[in-house]
Amino acid sequence: MSKVTTSKISGVAVLTLDNAPVNGLGLALRTALNKAFRDAMEDAEVTAIVLIGAGRMFSAGADISEFGTPNSMKPPSLPEIINMIEAAERPIVAAIHGNALGGGLELALGCHYRVAQAGANLGLPEVSLGIIPGAGGTQRLPRVIAVERALDVIVSGKPLKAEKAKELGLVDFLADGDLVEAAVKFCGSLPEGNGALRPTRAREDNLGPAREKPDIFEGYRKSMARRARGLDAPYAAVECVESCLFKEFDDGLQFERDTFKRLVASDQSRALRHAFFVERAATKIDGLPKDTAKQNIEYAAVVGCGTMGVGIAMNFANAGIPVTVLETKDEFLQKGLGVIRKNYAASVAKGRISQDEMDGRMSLISGIADFNQLGEPDVVIEAVFEKMDVKKQLFNELDGLMPAKTILATNTSTLDVNEIASATGRPEKVIGTHFFSPANVMRLQENVRGYKTSDETISTIMALAKKLGKVGVLVGVCDGFVGNRMLHAYTRQANFLLEEGALPQEVDKAIFNFGFPMGPFAMGDLAGLDVGWLIRKARNKDKPNNLRYSPIADRICEKGRFGQKTSAGWYLYKEGSRAPVPDPEIEQLILDVSEELGFDRRAIGEQEIVERCIYTMINEGAKILTEGISQRPGDIDTVWLHGYGFPRQRGGPMFYADSVGLKQVYDVISTLYDKYGDWLEPAPLLRDLAEAGKGFGDL
Ligand code: 3HC
Repeated sequence: MSKVTTSKISGVAVLTLDNAPVNGLGLALRTALNKAFRDAMEDAEVTAIVLIGAGRMFSAGADISEFGTPNSMKPPSLPEIINMIEAAERPIVAAIHGNALGGGLELALGCHYRVAQAGANLGLPEVSLGIIPGAGGTQRLPRVIAVERALDVIVSGKPLKAEKAKELGLVDFLADGDLVEAAVKFCGSLPEGNGALRPTRAREDNLGPAREKPDIFEGYRKSMARRARGLDAPYAAVECVESCLFKEFDDGLQFERDTFKRLVASDQSRALRHAFFVERAATKIDGLPKDTAKQNIEYAAVVGCGTMGVGIAMNFANAGIPVTVLETKDEFLQKGLGVIRKNYAASVAKGRISQDEMDGRMSLISGIADFNQLGEPDVVIEAVFEKMDVKKQLFNELDGLMPAKTILATNTSTLDVNEIASATGRPEKVIGTHFFSPANVMRLQENVRGYKTSDETISTIMALAKKLGKVGVLVGVCDGFVGNRMLHAYTRQANFLLEEGALPQEVDKAIFNFGFPMGPFAMGDLAGLDVGWLIRKARNKDKPNNLRYSPIADRICEKGRFGQKTSAGWYLYKEGSRAPVPDPEIEQLILDVSEELGFDRRAIGEQEIVERCIYTMINEGAKILTEGISQRPGDIDTVWLHGYGFPRQRGGPMFYADSVGLKQVYDVISTLYDKYGDWLEPAPLLRDLAEAGKGFGDL
C-alpha cells in the first residue's frame, strides 16, 4: 500500500502521509509523497493541495534510523520535495495535528500556509540529535517568524504549541474542529490565482530588521555558552541562521545541507542518536508480553516526607494523580508540605507554571499522620530512612493495612528489594522505584524487580514512569542496582587518584571537561557525604576488609564535614554559595594519607583521570550485564544519562566504551587490576569482547 493516499474534497486534493508510527520521512514515504504530489499537480481540477498526517501526528521528521544508511542518500531527498512544493503554482496548505517536528516542520514550512489543531507541537529538535535542520529549516523559519524567535526554536530544540506558533506567525489558522474540514475551508478562503501563492523563500520582511543588528548572533552565542558546552550542533545552527541573512536563499540552503551532512557523520550525532533509541528501547522488557495487563494508577501514597518523599509526591501531582503523603509526626508533615508549596511557588515566580496550575497541583496533594486514613491507594511508595529493619517493619505494616490491589514500592537506593518483599505476603506486588534527587527534576526512575515481582506489577510501574514524565529503566537486585553500583566503583577510583597524587579540584576539572556537569567530589558535597560514610561503616561491619577503599572520605566525615549542608566537605562553601573552594586543610589531609600509605605522589594528567574513573565504571557495567542485572548495555547508558549527568554527546558509558574501543578499556583495567587487585578484576565479558574485537553494541 502506498504511504500517501489522495482524496479530493471540493477540488482540493488531500494528501495523507501514512507511515506509522510517526510518519517518519524515510525513503518509502518520500517516494510516495513525491509521486502523489506530482500526480495532484497534473490534475487540472485540483485548485489547492492539503498535506496531512494519518494517525497520531503530522510527521516527526526524517527517519532517524535511516541516517548513515544508503537509503538516506537515495532520491527524492527531502529538500528536493520541499523545494518542489514551495514552487507549486497552486496553494499548498499543511494541516498539522499532534507533532510537526524536524523534517516534518520543514515540510510544513515549504507549504504556503499552515493550519494547526490546538495543542499541536511544532519544533525543530534536530540539535538534540547532534545535527541541525537539514531540509531548509534554518533558512525558512527565520523568514516566517522573527529571527530571534527562530534562533530560540532551532537552538533550544524545544517545540512551540500551536497557539504560540499562531501568535508568532508560524501558524496561519488554528482549527478546533475537524482538521481536514478546516484546512479545506481555509483553502476556499484564499484569493484566487497567483495572489494565493506565498513561497516562503520569497518572504524577506523579517530579515531586514535583523540585518540591522548583526550582533544578535554574538549575543546569542554568549547566552547559550553554558547549556551548549561541548556541543557542536547548537553553534552550527546559529551559524546557519546567521547565513540566512547574508546569503542568497539557495546558497543558504546549500550551506545548511553541507553543515547537516558533516554533523550527521559526527561522533556527537551518533552518540545522541544512540541515546534517543536506547531510551525508547529501555521501555521494552524482554520476556514481558506486550499485552501484559496494567493497573490503573488513580491514587497514590508516599510514605516519608523528607527530600525524596516530597519530590516523589510532586511528580504525581504534576501528572494529575491525587497523592497523599504520610509522616508519623505532624511537625515533619507540615514541614514537607511547606517545602512542596515553596517549590511550586518558585516555579510560579520563574514563570514555569501559572498560579492556577500551582493551586491545581497543591489541591491534589494531601498529608496525613495516620496510616488508617490512607484509604485505598493503587500504589504506595516508601521513602523513609535507608535502613533494612525500618523498611521491613513498614512493609509488613502496609501489607496488613492496604487492600490486595495496592503495589508496595520502595525508593531504596541500595537495599535488597527481595528482603523487603519477604516482609509482606504479596512479594509479587513489591518493586523498587528508585527516584533520583531532586525527584521532581531528575528524569531517571530505576525500577527494581525482585525475584517474585509479577509481570503486571512491572508493566504497571514502567507505564507509571512514563505517565510521571520519567525515563523508566528496569534493573535487577544487587548492591546499588545499576546506577549507584557503578557510581561507587567510579568514586572509589577517584579516591585512589587522590592517594597517588591528584587533588579533588584536579579530578573534578578533568571530569567536568569530559562533559559531566560536575566531578565526583563536588557531586559528593552536593549529595552529602554522611550517607556514603554510614554505608561504608555498615559494609565493613558485615564484611571487614571486603573492599579496600581510600580512608580519605571517612577522615573528612570524622571532622563533621558532610558537604554543602555543613558548608564544608571536600571543599569549603562560603555562606549562601554553592561554589566549591579548594581547602588547604583537605589538601594537607590528602598528603598525610598518601604518606601514611607510602605513596610517592606524582602529577596525574586529565587523560589518566578520565580513563581510570570512566573505565572503572564501564568494567562494573560489564559485570552488571553478565549478572543480568541490566537487560542491555543501552539501559545502562540510559541510567547514566538521566540519573548522573553522563554527557549525552558521548552516548553513555557503554556506548562511549565502544567508541574508544574495548581493547583500550580492557588494557587500562588490567593494569589497574595488577595494582589494586580484588574488585578491579576485568569483567570476563569485557575481556571476551575486547579479544574478539567487538563492542557492547554487538551484544
Ligand atoms: N525517526 C525514526 N523513528 C522515530 C522517529 C523518527 N524521527 N520518531 C519516533 N520514532 C520511533 C521511536 O523510536 C519509537 O519506536 P519504537 O516504538 O520502535 O520504540 C516510535 O517511533 C514511537 O516514538 P515514541 O515512543 O518516542 O513516541 P512518543 O509518542 O512518546 O513521542 C515524538 C513522539 C514526540 C514524535 C518522539 O518520537 C520524538 O521526539 N521523535 C523524534 C523527533 C525528532 O527528533 N525529529 C527530527 C528528526 S531529524 C530530521 O528531521 C532531520 C531533518 O532536518 C532533515
